[in-house]
Amino acid sequence: MNLSIIGTGYVGLVSGACLAELGHTVWCVDREREKIERIAAGISPIHEAGLDDLLAKHVHGRLHATTDLPQAVRDSEMTLIAVGTPFDGSRIDLSFIHQAARQIGEALSKKAGYHVVVVKSTVVPGTTEGDLTRILEESSGKKAGRDFGVGMNPEFLSEGNAVADFMSPDRIVLGGMDQRTLNTMEKLYEVMDKDVPRVRTTLRTAEMIKYASNALQATMISFANEMANICSAMGGVDVVDVMSGVHLMRPLTPKLDDGRMIRAGITHFLNAGCGFGGSCFPKDIKALAAHAGRIGASTPLLDAVLSTNAAQPNRVISLLREQLGRPLDGAKVAVAGLAFKPGTDDLRESPAIAVIDELLRCGAMVSAFDPAAESHAKQKWGSRVRIESTLAAAIEGADAIAIVTSWPQFKQIPQLIAGWANPPLVVDGRRMLGRNSVARYAGIGLSDGPSTGERR
Ligand SMILES: NC(=O)c1ccc[n+]([C@@H]2O[C@H](COP(=O)([O-])OP(=O)(O)OC[C@H]3O[C@@H](n4cnc5c(N)ncnc54)[C@H](O)[C@@H]3O)[C@@H](O)[C@H]2O)c1
Repeated sequence: MNLSIIGTGYVGLVSGACLAELGHTVWCVDREREKIERIAAGISPIHEAGLDDLLAKHVHGRLHATTDLPQAVRDSEMTLIAVGTPFDGSRIDLSFIHQAARQIGEALSKKAGYHVVVVKSTVVPGTTEGDLTRILEESSGKKAGRDFGVGMNPEFLSEGNAVADFMSPDRIVLGGMDQRTLNTMEKLYEVMDKDVPRVRTTLRTAEMIKYASNALQATMISFANEMANICSAMGGVDVVDVMSGVHLMRPLTPKLDDGRMIRAGITHFLNAGCGFGGSCFPKDIKALAAHAGRIGASTPLLDAVLSTNAAQPNRVISLLREQLGRPLDGAKVAVAGLAFKPGTDDLRESPAIAVIDELLRCGAMVSAFDPAAESHAKQKWGSRVRIESTLAAAIEGADAIAIVTSWPQFKQIPQLIAGWANPPLVVDGRRMLGRNSVARYAGIGLSDGPSTGERR
């Protein structure tokens, strides 16, 4: 197929490169000229495993990058919308979707033949059949269902593993206004493994499947964090041991007929840490709760998921305060990991932001290292944080090290600090090190000795 994709951020660019790999001809469109020039030169503007190889293979072949949206729409038979849908403080901000719809509609007014417009961005249920369809009809002068189809195909890729997730999805959800649209959308993934479950459904259901999926994962993270916070207050119980025991329950580790035990992937979210971040979970849970409130549905569970999460980075600060043995003011604190998760350079809503901003407020001297997010971090904090290019340089001379992102290379920390005359306190915000692996260890969901009784 000939496709145009509007927005070449994490979702648009990964989708474009992968759809080219699947054999489609793709026009990647963005309004940021610099981004488009980089992509056109075969250089990925984002850090994602496997993306550089796909760009090298397909740029100048089936993958084109352009700022000319009307031309890209006219040269394609389907347009995917992958623009941002941020939370504006009280609701989802659909202004990028509205603008893209208007531009696509105007381009369609000058194009003959049937076209399909598919939303890949995460949008609150009702957006695709409501605002999007209305704006497309108004700006094109054409009729949805007759002259063009409208679809919704939520994206489930996760940053850090985005290319692999796109190429081997757990499911393909296709929402369509009618059968003709759905049949056209099926062609997008025709060459993919036939065993991947396909869900053909309505536009609203497709939109809601995405929110419900993210809400479930975020809920599990906040559940594990609440358990961690109870364990900390209790003393003498380590949340890591507790959750390992929980993971073994049959729904999470089922036994197959041949006796083998399989650990369900969802247990990954049932681990304590310093909170979820990124461009999806926080904004999507907030947008869903806000939308629910507008339509008269209450969301006490989602509200609690968000408030538990908002407080979680502060646990790192509390552990530093309690166990450093000196005031934070003037202390040298090295932050290991800045991206919201390993494998990405994305700092959006990363717990590292809350941790570093609070450390700076308290007067700490902060150094930091992240294997991928160095340049974003330099832009964000400038000279207020000493951003180093190696872990060893960032932790040199530190009074404390706070692990905020679970990059695998941070497993080297015990080796790097072994033999120091004044060993630093290591605050493990991701519970990735053994608790006896360093001289001074503090972890989320762990505190010394049994509690002496109820707090009065
Ligand atoms: N990032 C993820 O892991 C992920 C996963 C699944 C779904 N999503 C959803 O996908 C959507 C996109 O997310 P993202 O992280 O890729 O966003 P992003 O901010 O990285 O990229 C959006 C891009 O769209 C461009 N853009 C905006 N309006 C445009 C227009 N009118 N014409 C051309 N380009 C335009 C921007 O310049 C930007 O490059 C969001 O709704 C998000 O919730 C994201």
